[in-house]
Amino acid sequence: MVTPGTTHVSSSPEQTEALGAALASDLRAGDVVLLYGEMGTGKTTFVRGALRALGNTGPVTSPTYTIARHYDEGPVPVAHLDLHRLGDLAEEDPAFLADHVGPHGIAFVEWPQIADDDGQVMPRVVARVHLEHVTPEQRRVRISP
Ligand SMILES: Nc1ncnc2c1ncn2[C@@H]1O[C@H](COP(=O)(O)OP(=O)(O)OP(=O)(O)O)[C@@H](O)[C@H]1O
Ligand SMILES: [Mg+2]
Repeated sequence: MVTPGTTHVSSSPEQTEALGAALASDLRAGDVVLLYGEMGTGKTTFVRGALRALGNTGPVTSPTYTIARHYDEGPVPVAHLDLHRLGDLAEEDPAFLADHVGPHGIAFVEWPQIADDDGQVMPRVVARVHLEHVTPEQRRVRISP
């Protein structure tokens, strides 16, 4: 079970995708998942597995230069955000996140600490995924509430 309070070790990108898929099976519209970890730890890889499990068959690439990508192939719409390049969110329209995160869909947010919104804009965070390098091929994946 990939649920809050569990820690996993992944030895390949495929295993990290499988962890994302397992987490996705518990998600419903309105849920938000936050992903923490250094560059290259596998946040996007984890989300790719989740998107597959949620019925999206197309390519899943990092939204770094677009901030957000939307996947509408499955029964529940999914947004994938990467806030790394957003800089100071205060300079953005405050409604920015609300365009992507809301009751109608599931949202995955990489680098959520950039938003630092005290839960005002991302109200239903159901899981936080913390990824760490162990070896070049291994990652520790800890799930917290
Ligand atoms: N066990 C593993 N799990 C996930 N990725 C792995 C693993 N082993 C090696 N990799 C490689 O690490 C890279 C992870 O890239 P990914 O884009 O998912 O990271 P990221 O955390 O989203 O980075 P960024 O912060 O730049 O968005 C990929 O190139 C992947 O092939
Ligand atoms: Mg990424």
